Amino acid sequence: MSQAKEVRKLFLDFFAKRNHKIVPSSSLIPIDDPSVLLTTAGMQQFKKYFTGEKDALKDFGTQRTCSVQKCFRTTDIEEIGDERHLTFFEMLGNFSFGPVGKDDPSDFNDKSGYFKNSAIYWAYEFLVKELGLKIDYVTIFKGEDKIPYDQTSYQIWKDIGFDDKNIKEFGREDNFWGPTGDEGPCGPTTEIYIDNIEIWNLVFNEYYQDKNKKLIKLKNPGVDTGMGLERLMKVVEKKETIFETSLFLPLKEIIFDQRIDLEIRKYRIIADHLRGAVFLISDGLYPSNLERGYILRRILRRLVLYLKLSRLNLDIIGKLVKVVIENYKDFYPEINNYDKIINVIDKEVRIFEKTLMRSLAKFDKIIKINDAYEEIGEKLFLLFSSYGLPLEIAKEIFKERNWNWDNKIEEVFNKKYREHQKLSKGNG
Ligand code: SER
Repeated sequence: MSQAKEVRKLFLDFFAKRNHKIVPSSSLIPIDDPSVLLTTAGMQQFKKYFTGEKDALKDFGTQRTCSVQKCFRTTDIEEIGDERHLTFFEMLGNFSFGPVGKDDPSDFNDKSGYFKNSAIYWAYEFLVKELGLKIDYVTIFKGEDKIPYDQTSYQIWKDIGFDDKNIKEFGREDNFWGPTGDEGPCGPTTEIYIDNIEIWNLVFNEYYQDKNKKLIKLKNPGVDTGMGLERLMKVVEKKETIFETSLFLPLKEIIFDQRIDLEIRKYRIIADHLRGAVFLISDGLYPSNLERGYILRRILRRLVLYLKLSRLNLDIIGKLVKVVIENYKDFYPEINNYDKIINVIDKEVRIFEKTLMRSLAKFDKIIKINDAYEEIGEKLFLLFSSYGLPLEIAKEIFKERNWNWDNKIEEVFNKKYREHQKLSKGNG
């Protein structure tokens, strides 16, 4: 953990020296951005500086900021358990807003906005000179949909010393970022790869994408970079995966201490969801059936499921929460609230544990591997309506047992669900 502490500090110091204002992470619950349920990127708290609605010079005394931002992404929730996906992660980022000045990376007195020259050179300098890492290759935007080829970034990487074969070119799918939600700043990117993983994404916010997906040129281009701390620590500490880094090791030790033969995928899901829940709760979220509250409920339910499938006692949660708090409280003082966090988790997981145990017993009685998909759909609806077993958890159980999941199951389930809703509305 001390290594991660050091890396955060090195990053912030590096950019502070270059006249960036260090801004604390904003909450995982976005304060000023209705376009998303949770904070998914470091740039979110700065959106209005990119658009010019707010003035960075006035608010920060400089047109440059940097942060280590708590982020939470749910798009990949079912991928968690592989080597690289996470729900919660930390993102190191530097940002520039407003009119671009000299854009000279060697000028330490300049506080004005900067662009590709400084952003690329500093990223290179930080990784190679400060951290002693070796960049494998970089990618740039090749031009697509009338958005031009990024000749400037190409030239800057060439000048730094990269060969053509180490400057790969991709289109909108890979090298164009944003916006978050349905509108906002966005632009072409250049991305840095180490050990074949994308380490740092440098976004050049030249456009604003409106609700109709139309790109409008921003008055001033901005810089928005993001580097996942977990991935960075993987390469700094030379580990096989992010789940072996010092950010996760204390959790791993506790979990494997209780179950030495645990399947690695289960450990990763437990560690990811537990850590994510601690951060969400410490930012004021409670489990519920609505929007972001449901995200928390969903990961806590999956946590219970995987603890049960791993034959781990739910009491392990308390130990794991303590370790997460210990690891992070210096940097994120808001998580130093064991009693509240454990109360919220405990209440939710105890209730769901009962639901799960009852419905699993019934599941095993009524569902057989060779049942027709339609029949399974009906039975799962029964388990949902009478026992409270959510469909997504049933799906996980199928996956765990290597049973086939067919869309027909979901179709029948949804049809039954709609009928049920109509009936209960009619009765009410
Ligand atoms: N906003 C970009 C990202 O999330 C860079 O910070 O990757």
